[in-house]
Amino acid sequence: MTIDIVILAAGQGTRMKSLLPKVLHPLAGKPLLQHVINMAETIPDSNITVVTGYASEQIQNSIAGKDLKYVYQAEQLGTANAVQTAAPNLDSNGITLVLYGDVPLISTKTVLSTLKVVNNNTMGLLTVVLEKPEGYGRIVRDRKGDICGIIEQKDAMPQELEIQEVNTGVIAISTNLLQKWLPQIGNDNAQNEYYLTDLISIANKAGIKIEAVNPDTPEEVKGVNTRKQLSKLERFYQQKQADRLMVNGATLADPSRVDIRGTIFCDVDTFIDVNTVFEGEVKLGKNVSVGPNCLITESSIGDNVKIKANTIIENSTICNDVEVGPFARVRPGTLLGDNSKIGNFVEVKNTEVGKGSKISHLSYIGDSQLGKDVNVGAGTITCNYDGANKNKTIIGDDSFIGSNASLVAPVTIGKNATIGAGSTITKDIPDNELSVSRSPQLNKSGWERPKKKK
Ligand code: UD1
Ligand code: MG
Repeated sequence: MTIDIVILAAGQGTRMKSLLPKVLHPLAGKPLLQHVINMAETIPDSNITVVTGYASEQIQNSIAGKDLKYVYQAEQLGTANAVQTAAPNLDSNGITLVLYGDVPLISTKTVLSTLKVVNNNTMGLLTVVLEKPEGYGRIVRDRKGDICGIIEQKDAMPQELEIQEVNTGVIAISTNLLQKWLPQIGNDNAQNEYYLTDLISIANKAGIKIEAVNPDTPEEVKGVNTRKQLSKLERFYQQKQADRLMVNGATLADPSRVDIRGTIFCDVDTFIDVNTVFEGEVKLGKNVSVGPNCLITESSIGDNVKIKANTIIENSTICNDVEVGPFARVRPGTLLGDNSKIGNFVEVKNTEVGKGSKISHLSYIGDSQLGKDVNVGAGTITCNYDGANKNKTIIGDDSFIGSNASLVAPVTIGKNATIGAGSTITKDIPDNELSVSRSPQLNKSGWERPKKKK
């Protein structure tokens, strides 16, 4: 049976006080709506329809997904009206599930259990008991304890406000019933809105059972209306990621001071110090240590790698037994071979560093290929850009580059070559040769420095 998932995302989110539509605000580096869509994509046999209104085009351009359908709600007349916008396109023989674009952490498991209860005589309603139910629609039950309606906060009587079981907004219902009942919903209420929640009393009167389903944690169904709520959900999400890392064998110096904005796979005995941020997909091998204040993006790190404080690594591959940092910047397209070393204030870009090679201090090495056991002295610069094009530097195995050398690309330095300190190299160097290109040293005896005129 087809499951039509309708995600409501037409609101601006005025309480965010932002130019960015609320559903595009990031949680763990990813828009709120993208979290919901990624979860929805895990539901088998489903079609996803997103209802947009405010900044519709911007949302469509910022969100990724396979076969996403968008419908446009011109005016925000209420949640029932939003679902009605999508209703004509839904498969009448299937089930419709309604989700909110600003409730980012709902899990597949919870959605599947809500869907499971649905049949021609039963609809599913995701509810949660909150100590402070303020703002939410309250679940009204009859004397037998069956759900018979939802009353919105603004329409509720004082005794109804005492109810702690609230509507999360997530419902699952046979689509033919939804299509039949939506047009019956009016807007005679405190907000003059078409409330989707009115569906509950209509269903109850028609003899349909409303089965409550509960999530594992209340955070799963919490919506974002303010930046404060966003920060609370972010912390909850990050704590969960940190817990997962620790379960998998990582030691975190402080689980509240590591942020994972993507996915991290980590093998045993990883140590992660404070204030490190991981972005995109990051893989860490066995026995990796990451020092304080590092940023690691879309990279794969091998076994026994030591990443020292304040190091940035982006879109790169680091093999085994490598040492990087402190204060190193490994830019996209870099491969650091086994046992290599990148030291402080070294920037490497689009470069392959062979096994056992070392760039220990203050260098820029870009668009280069270094063989095995190369030693690059302090202050060495590859002049890879001629003002128009990027050019390549090749350095053979066992070469020794003296400190403060400028290697003007394109240039090839042979195997076991030696470059004298301070040289500017513009021509290729054959294997085993010494190359020096600097003016010979002149020492003058009896030299006096000029004196200031009186
Ligand atoms: C809604 C529920 C309430 C529930 C709460 C949970 C109704 C009437 N009330 O209240 O019972 O406890 O969610 O968070 O459904 N939206 C549209 N188009 C519209 C109106 C809303 O797309 O015309 C979207 C919003 O962008 C938002 C979601 O639907 O993502 C919920 O709308 P909102 O106005 O926040 O409803 P609440 O008052 O929070
Ligand atoms: Mg809301």
